Order: sequence, then C-alpha cells, then structure tokens
Amino acid sequence: MIKVIAVFGTRPEAIKMAPVVHQLKSQKNKFKTIVCVTAQHRHMLDQVLKIFNIRSNYDMDIMRKAQTLYQITTNGLLQLEAIYKKEKPDLVLVHGDTTTTLVAALAAFYEKIPVGHVEAGLRSFDKFNPFPEEINRRIADVLSDLYFVPTALGARNLKREGINSRQLYVTGNTVIDALHLALKQPYRLRDKELNRLAPGKRIILVTAHRRENWGQPLANICAALKQVAQDYPDVQIIYPVHLNPQVKNIVYPALGKIKNVILCQPLDYLDFIHLMKKSYLVLTDSGGLQEEAPSLGKPVLVLRRVTERPEGVKAGTVKVIGTDRKEIYRQTSRLLTDKKAYLKMASAVNPYGDGQASQRIARAIGQYFRHK
Ligand code: UD1
Ligand code: UDP
Repeated sequence: MIKVIAVFGTRPEAIKMAPVVHQLKSQKNKFKTIVCVTAQHRHMLDQVLKIFNIRSNYDMDIMRKAQTLYQITTNGLLQLEAIYKKEKPDLVLVHGDTTTTLVAALAAFYEKIPVGHVEAGLRSFDKFNPFPEEINRRIADVLSDLYFVPTALGARNLKREGINSRQLYVTGNTVIDALHLALKQPYRLRDKELNRLAPGKRIILVTAHRRENWGQPLANICAALKQVAQDYPDVQIIYPVHLNPQVKNIVYPALGKIKNVILCQPLDYLDFIHLMKKSYLVLTDSGGLQEEAPSLGKPVLVLRRVTERPEGVKAGTVKVIGTDRKEIYRQTSRLLTDKKAYLKMASAVNPYGDGQASQRIARAIGQYFRHK
C-alpha cells in the first residue's frame, strides 16, 4: 500500500489535481490517498472541491484577505510540518507553480519524503514573468523525485537541467482529464449573471489576475476592453473577476458601467468551461486557459510578455500579445473583423494529451515504488 498525500490550495491546482485524486482513490488496493488543502484560496477552492466531489482530510485554511507571499509561505510551511510528521506519507504530490506548491515540496524535503510534481518542467525562462510562478516551479522541480510532464517539451527542459530521464514521465496535462470529466454531460449555464448574455452576440471571454499585471498593465487591459466594447456593439465581453482585491479594485471601477461588458464573480468550473465553449474569443493572462481554449477551438490572446506554454502558440491557436492598450485593441479588432485571420486561429488543437494523464501518473507512482 502506497500512502500518497496530495497537497493543493488554489483553484487551478484543485481543477488539475481532481482527476489525479479520483484516479488514486479508485485504486484502493494500491493507494491510500490523503487530501490536504492549504486553502490558499477559500471560495475559489471550495467551488472546485464541490464540483469534483472531493472531501479534504486536512484543511489548513490559510487564506487571509490580500495575503502576502510571506504569509502564505510561513503559515503553509508551519502547518505542513505537523501534518507530514503525523501522516508519514510515502509520497507528497504537488501541482504546478503556486506558493502552495513551493511550500508543500519544501516541507516534504525537510521531512525527507519523496515528491511527485504534476505539471513539472514548464519554463518561461524569465525570472519575473510570471511572478512568482517561474521560480516556484523551478524550486519545486529541484526538490522533486518524480516528474509528471505534460508534453515532450517539459521533459527536454528538465533533462537540460540534469534530471535523469528515468524520473520523467510524459503524461499529458491533467487539465484535459478535467475537461473531459466536465464536458461529459449536456449542460445549461446556471450562474444568474450568464442569463444576461444576449443570444446571437459574439462573446469575448476575459480573465486576468497575474501579479505582474497588477496596477498599470491591468488598467491598460481594461482600457482596451472598454474601447473594444464601445466600437463593437455586436460583441459582449464577459469577465469573471478574480476575488483578489488587487484585481477587483481596478476592474470594477474601469468596466463596471459599460453596457456590453458583464463583470461577474468567479464562475464555477462547469459554467466556466461551457461558457468558453460558447465564446468567440478568449483574452487571458491565465495559464490554464491557454491549455483549455485550444482544445475547444477558441483563439486565445495572451495578456502577458512571455508564456511557459508555447505549444498552443506553435499550433497557431494562441498568440502572446502583452499588455499595451493599443496592441490589445489592434489584435482583438483584427480577430473581430478579419474572418480569415480568425479561422486560422480557431482550429481545434490539443497538444496536451488524451485525457488519460491521471492514469499514467498513478501507474508511474506504482512503478516508482516497485523499483525503489
Ligand atoms: C494564486 C497563485 C497563482 C495562481 C492563482 C490562480 C501564488 C503566489 N499565486 O494567485 O500562481 O495563478 O492563484 O488563481 O501562489 N481571494 C479571495 N477568495 C478566494 C481566492 C482569493 O478572497 O477564493 C483573495 C484574497 O484576498 C487573497 C487574494 O485573493 O488574499 C490573493 O490570493 P493569492 O492566492 O495570494 O494569490 P492569487 O493572485 O490568487
Ligand atoms: N476558471 C473557473 N472559473 C472562472 C475562471 C476560471 O473555473 O471564473 C478555471 C479555468 O477553467 C481554469 C482555471 O480556472 O481551469 C484557471 O485558473 P486561474 O486563471 O485562476 O489560474 P492559472 O491557470 O492562471 O494558474
């Protein structure tokens, strides 16, 4: 019996770990699976746990309003010490690049517990973009023993950093597993704000929350969206606004009173994915959306300077456009008016696997402990 503790805390980690947790739990004869949430996010985490029907064994409840990186790091580390000491797991499973990822891997190292990193090997090669995620994931990879990389590119990145190929598993991204779970059944949008969507109008779906975009870049994004909304009345922009006060305090004053801009609370994952399916175009600085939108055939304009997910760019569905107001307006206008340019980007591609990543991760964990 292999005792695995999965540690996560934010919305995207929960979405991408949910299929892994279910997979491990379904193999009861092989794995004892413990779920520990830091709750670095509260509401946005609970939304996901509910949708995927996951109950945590430990809830560290660390979220504070407008918390700092220092708070997440110290509170997270201190509580994990006691949990790891009590449970003595064979493996700690972490995901991605948040501060939860960093502390969960670091505490495991302090306790000399092996670490499995899901979505390992992503690199933007730019220390401050995204911030602090690029360094979080690099540190997590230094501390890890098992690497579950979504694509061959991640494996190449890690080999270049000296990681032994025997520790590497190209599994696909579990985001596709989650997407398959979510799109299984026919669905009607439930959130009441979504009833305001006028049928027939083209939907631009927007999300933006990144730390490096706080302040002027986010203000630029809002100004560009405002101009798009005014110049294209046949378009409706919908922006589920991240609960971070640093984001809300800019977005609501800038876009709150524009007729064809709908601002809403974070949507639950099912509503969000189905809304993306109905959308014409996606503008985002999120990591996960760059993986989901291509497989739904939706062009993505990335509101960042660099991406650690070049696969969609290579395939032609994703374009990194930065945060300059005029450039965002120009690129969005082009996709609204130039049918050929739009169709060129709108073909569905999925570089992120077949939805079986979680199964491969479970198999790899089994293999690792057989040969240990
Ligand atoms: C975090 C991650 C980021 C990830 C993002 C996904 C770090 C440093 N950042 O950024 O990598 O892309 O999550 O969304 O790990 N808040 C709420 N309720 C919630 C969630 C957040 O009120 O359910 C507010 C709180 O005031 C909180 C603030 O948002 O203090 C910031 O949350 P935090 O996790 O520190 O950073 P994010 O910007 O969400
Ligand atoms: N998402 C959601 N509701 C929303 C916005 C996003 O469920 O209102 C999902 C989305 O489908 C994706 C994930 O949240 O799977 C992305 O999370 P976020 O943008 O917060 O983090 P990032 O991917 O940038 O780390």
